[in-house]
Amino acid sequence: MNDKIIVTGGCGYIGSHTVIELIKNNYKVIILDDLSNSSEETLDRIEKITGKKPTFINIDLKDADITNEVFKSHKDAKAVIHFAAYKAVGESINNPLKYYQNNLYSLLNTLSSQIENGINNFIFSSSATVYGTPNKLPITERNETQRPFSSYGNTKKVAEEILDDLINSNATFSAISLRYFNPIGAHESGLIGELPSGTPNNLMPYITQTAVGIREKLMVYGNDYPTKDGTPIRDYIHVVDLAKAHVIAVKRLIHKKQETAFETFNLGTGNGFSVLDVIHTFESVTNSKLNYEIVERRAGDVPELYASTDLAKEKLGWTADKSLEEMIRSSWNWEQKLRNKTS
Ligand code: NAD
Ligand code: UD1
Repeated sequence: MNDKIIVTGGCGYIGSHTVIELIKNNYKVIILDDLSNSSEETLDRIEKITGKKPTFINIDLKDADITNEVFKSHKDAKAVIHFAAYKAVGESINNPLKYYQNNLYSLLNTLSSQIENGINNFIFSSSATVYGTPNKLPITERNETQRPFSSYGNTKKVAEEILDDLINSNATFSAISLRYFNPIGAHESGLIGELPSGTPNNLMPYITQTAVGIREKLMVYGNDYPTKDGTPIRDYIHVVDLAKAHVIAVKRLIHKKQETAFETFNLGTGNGFSVLDVIHTFESVTNSKLNYEIVERRAGDVPELYASTDLAKEKLGWTADKSLEEMIRSSWNWEQKLRNKTS
């Protein structure tokens, strides 16, 4: 029998890529998603890529009773990967309660349901945003966390604190928190990728939507940062590399290889690229010119963020191996297929 894994938010961007990697590793996947930021069509696309359709349950994890019922019927699952959350930074600043309600109730209901049903392994989608403005680079897991700028970011910090308390009170429960840097890219098939609702907040979807003609031009938020070209530096990571790290983390939990009951790992490449680096790489990969303009800084942006990847390499045996060019090529392939303008 293949081990069963529950994946909340499995129809979303990172979740769907992770489901593919889990299926490739012979896990049986149960997706719990309310489709608030995704589509059921993703399931057909996963089937097209892997030959298997994961079990899907349409459920809002804010509902404690229904969540518990669903976990009761899958109490043989070996682990939970929890992606379900809202993630729009700007919206979270204007509507913090929506974010605290969704991201924290979903987390609490998932945790209490899984524990009640004897499922004691948990993987959490965290973010580099928990480091705030880092005073030391590269960022190691020993860097202090700070209160993030946005309510969205703060749901990640609070969630990690909840997990810490839970683990200190429960001898049988184990968790791994994965702190993502900047996930971009899409599956090589071009069948799944990131589909932001409305105007994208993030750089990569904004670039591809501009290039495809949906947006007029990209606004580059500031070129007066203390970096090599004045634009902020980030650690962009291919979503497929990120997905693979989740499979390794699942195996680590199931086979009880953890060194402590709560472990935290950065998931990045360790390489920093500026906004202009990304634009210029996009232009060279696609052999086109991107329409962009330098404008004022965006509130909350930090000058420079990139990961130390040493701990993930040492303990998980994981490193990201896809280049910025590959990330951009796959994002572009996805955007073109999405708009049915394959060239
Ligand atoms: P996404 O929006 O594509 O996926 C999240 C999924 O969760 C969606 O399918 C959505 O429908 C579902 N969902 C949301 N609330 C739910 C609820 N109450 N009940 C059931 N399902 C619900 O986002 P993503 O980019 O795939 O991100 C996945 C996780 O990774 C999130 O927790 C996000 O905060 C975290 N993260 C993302 C990034 C990023 O850049 N994408 C960076 C750091 C951390
Ligand atoms: C953002 C969030 C972070 C969240 C992450 C993943 C903020 C302040 N931070 O990270 O909390 O975890 O997304 O969802 O929103 N840029 C432009 N023009 C654009 C878009 C972005 O110049 O239209 C620049 C930004 O100034 C930044 C870089 O591109 O320097 C990357 O931006 P983005 O993709 O939004 O990621 P982060 O800001 O790192």
